[in-house]
Amino acid sequence: MHNLKVLIADDEEDLRDIMSFLVESNLECELVFAVNGVEAIEYLSKGDIDLIICDYNMPLKNGGDVYQYLLDAAHPCRYVMCSSDSPKQYEVFNDSSLFFGYIQKPLVLPGVKEIVAKLKSEESLVKAPDAYDYTAISTKLLLGLSILPSEIFIKLSDSKVFKVFDKGATFDETDYIKYSMKGIDKLFAINLSTTQIIEKMNQVISELKENALPENRLETEIQVHQLISSTLKEYGFQEELMPSIEAHFKETLDLCKSNKTLSLLLDKLLKNKDSYLGQHSFLMSAVTVALAARLEWASSVTAQKLVVSSLFHDIFLPGDINNEVLELMKKNNDEEFLTHPQKAADLLDKLPGIQPDTSRIILEHHEIGDGYGFPREVDVSKTTPLSQLFIFSHYLVDIILDLNREGTLSKEAIFEQMEVISHSSSKFKKLLATLKEIDLFE
Ligand SMILES: [Fe+2]
Ligand SMILES: [Fe+2]
Repeated sequence: MHNLKVLIADDEEDLRDIMSFLVESNLECELVFAVNGVEAIEYLSKGDIDLIICDYNMPLKNGGDVYQYLLDAAHPCRYVMCSSDSPKQYEVFNDSSLFFGYIQKPLVLPGVKEIVAKLKSEESLVKAPDAYDYTAISTKLLLGLSILPSEIFIKLSDSKVFKVFDKGATFDETDYIKYSMKGIDKLFAINLSTTQIIEKMNQVISELKENALPENRLETEIQVHQLISSTLKEYGFQEELMPSIEAHFKETLDLCKSNKTLSLLLDKLLKNKDSYLGQHSFLMSAVTVALAARLEWASSVTAQKLVVSSLFHDIFLPGDINNEVLELMKKNNDEEFLTHPQKAADLLDKLPGIQPDTSRIILEHHEIGDGYGFPREVDVSKTTPLSQLFIFSHYLVDIILDLNREGTLSKEAIFEQMEVISHSSSKFKKLLATLKEIDLFE
């Protein structure tokens, strides 16, 4: 018998992903996809589809039209309906001669298992056990899983694979974006037991549904505003700074809403709001904007450059990073640490709607005062004024976070430590003099 060919017809990408994973991991088969009824019928008309898993409510033509086509053509394809509607609701299914099964949404997992078991009773369709059993898994699904249930590989050719993640590693938004920029939307898991991740997938499906709701998007905005406001209060910033910071933040949030990559990156920060990455990035955005406002540089263009740089300059660091891990990475000249400014700058460079120079600020954020920074080891006087403000704020933020953790946060303690930092650069000395003059803190 030829290799089984399965068509998954569904207009929801997430459902197609999950279905393809479940079917592929249980059956030796070739998968093809259709996003509406017309496309599905086109595939079926070529004659070699053995099984179709078909949504009912699709654009152009629905699942009933597809079934009617099969009946009219006396097509041997097995038909599986996958819908929240019941087949009993539709007359077309009264003739059940091609009807193979029904998967009820949203509980697709038990439904798929049942279909696979039914197919497996047709002996020739059972997938042969294989010592090197690679299962394709979409990067979107990996993002939903977050903690990887197996080692993950890239397939270079049929015989060549390359391991990219260990079992138990984290797959986050920046990994997802990294692969999608290379045009890769599928990676491969090895010897994966489906039951291992079925429960997790159920969760992914319900979260995908929730995230699609507009109220949820609104919640992100409220969450960010509350985060910024409580951050400013916690660290003793003047309350009157709030309205202008909020206004500038609103512009950046609007930008994030209109761009899928940026909203994914913002998700990574919100998910890690209590780790170093989240605290540091959100506080950076408030401090840079407040400082720029006091310097009377706070045009909305400048503010957006600062907020976007603040939020995303460290986005390629691990989301759950803490101070100890960060210090260790610095000490060991860790590759991931040394490359994070360049990676973030490269990514932001490619996105639409980002102000020019934003990626330059990001690239230069570790070029410290005396030319011993990275990646380019330039003296801070050779960086742009906005970069200088950013690097200065970067020190300031980490000092505030450190002092707060030790319970010794005060204006005097901040100035004392900033004095030491600013010694290396006349630019920093000027910024420190300004910081002392203006009232940033209560
Ligand atoms: Fe940073
Ligand atoms: Fe950094």
